[in-house]
Amino acid sequence: MYRSHTCGELNMNHVGQTVQLAGWLQKSRDLGGLTFIDLRDRFGLTQLTFNMDTDEALCKQARSLGREFVLQVTGVVKERESKNLKMPTGEIEIIVTQIHILNESITPPFTIEDETDGGEDLRMKYRYLDIRRNTVREKLELRHRVSTETRNYLDKQRFMEVETPVLIKSTPEGARDFVVPSRLNPGQFYALPQSPQTFKQLLMVAGCDRYFQLVKCFRDEDLRADRQPEFTQIDCEMAFVEREDILNTFEGLVKHLFMQVKGVDIQEIPRMSYDDAMRYYGCDKPDTRFEMKFVELKNHESNDLVAGADFKVFDDAELVLAINASNCAVYTRKQLDELTDWVKDKGMSGMIYARVEADGNVKSSVDKFYNQERLQAWALASQAKPGDLLLVLSGKKDLTQKVMGDLRLEMGQRLGLRDKTKFSCLWVLDFPLVEWSEEDKRWYAMHHPFTSPRPEHIHMLESNPGDVKANAYDLVINGWEVGGGSIRIHDRTLQGQMFNLLGFTAEETQEKFGFLLDAFKYGAPPHGGIAFGLDRLCSLFGGADSIRDFIAFPKNNSGRDVMIDAPGPIDEKQRKELGL
Ligand code: AMO
Repeated sequence: MYRSHTCGELNMNHVGQTVQLAGWLQKSRDLGGLTFIDLRDRFGLTQLTFNMDTDEALCKQARSLGREFVLQVTGVVKERESKNLKMPTGEIEIIVTQIHILNESITPPFTIEDETDGGEDLRMKYRYLDIRRNTVREKLELRHRVSTETRNYLDKQRFMEVETPVLIKSTPEGARDFVVPSRLNPGQFYALPQSPQTFKQLLMVAGCDRYFQLVKCFRDEDLRADRQPEFTQIDCEMAFVEREDILNTFEGLVKHLFMQVKGVDIQEIPRMSYDDAMRYYGCDKPDTRFEMKFVELKNHESNDLVAGADFKVFDDAELVLAINASNCAVYTRKQLDELTDWVKDKGMSGMIYARVEADGNVKSSVDKFYNQERLQAWALASQAKPGDLLLVLSGKKDLTQKVMGDLRLEMGQRLGLRDKTKFSCLWVLDFPLVEWSEEDKRWYAMHHPFTSPRPEHIHMLESNPGDVKANAYDLVINGWEVGGGSIRIHDRTLQGQMFNLLGFTAEETQEKFGFLLDAFKYGAPPHGGIAFGLDRLCSLFGGADSIRDFIAFPKNNSGRDVMIDAPGPIDEKQRKELGL
């Protein structure tokens, strides 16, 4: 037996007991007559004490040990003279009687403590050392909790976990595939799944009824803070359900996770249509921790608030949007110029502002064009009160919405409204089924081609596809898309119509998705599902900006694993065998 206890569990109740511990030497302090060592394992730190007067040889041995040596010690638990009540083991120390060096360590490249001197790149290269640090290990423990509680909840709801294959053919999630050459089939390739979408639908045809899987997915796309080339989904599918059943079941999962992992009670999750999300927040994943909704001073329906003033910028604009930055009337000219440059960098021609002064008067950068009465109408529409600042952008609809969305987030950030300890969940519903690509001159599925249209919109599939809404939903938390799914098409004719709309010929459809369409000939039940990004959920729970911290061995921004130095070349023999 290597140890009788872990390094995190001894306390006053153990005083007088002889114990055995094993762990890593985190730090040693030599105070002349006394030497102290902090011994670390996953569960905590325990102070070991060596006394020169009582055992000189042992004390000398202790002093010779380096950082990160692996030790096994035997000793007696004693009450400490000066206690450290911040540590669970801070009231005791171990008077060591025997040390056994289980392994030596060379000096680590950075200190393995909460505050480390190692930079990001170095810590990635030695990730196994980084994981020894509490702050990193705790993130992996949080991830374990989220996975376990997910399984607990779904198991209780009678979902069954089924593993689907990793070597498959291309899935239609819209990113690029990672491909794997097949030795036994020269010149042919598997694709790694971007998600198990088609397999989970096949499992519905197979009668599994309620499926889930914590599953690795692979997407060859540009990396960002919330994206990794391999990531994990909580992937789910249910048969004999409508949208409402899915939303209720998974609202339950989200509430369960928040309660079990964070102790946070999430109230009923509000719902918003995609159209409203775009209209009021300029994006389909609004951060609803704060309001600051867009006010349309001019849109395709109404022009009254800006028209007739001979202000060409607004007269020529498709859309004029304002946001109300509360209590920002004190912004200086310099600050406003800086914000103007900020929106210009994002493609806007400029920014207009209006301050509501203490006496209620509105002073704007377009006073020349708009009199007080008209500016008051802006303030009223934006519910601006004395001390508030209106920021106004105008131009083409899509760009104005997008940049205003970014500006809103930026202002939210500057005003401290994006508190990481607050959580605001939102269902976004009724996405468009398809979007038009000007570049390719064709329609693309906004979610994936198996997503069903809202039943009442099916008749527009051919005549007006751009207006057809999908029976699809996303779960957004604090401005992050955490999950997405849809009710699927289970009818072969409708699925055929959809492929047709997406410009697939009958042969292409058969070649790409024949296996699924064939399966649908054998009694496919109505079904739908959703997938959550596990890494994203964990980093939200952990209050981090990047999902990387919650992945044991992540890739860097260039998609490299710098620890194992992958990807790398393969040798000539392997290349030949693979027919490459
Ligand atoms: P979707 O493509 O929306 O849907 O993915 C579901 C969720 O997975 C997470 N996610 C990612 N997380 C980290 N890195 C990435 N590169 C990445 N890409 C996606 C997001 C996202 O909401 N098969 C459908 C689901 C369905 O219809 O049931 C799908 O994969 O949190």
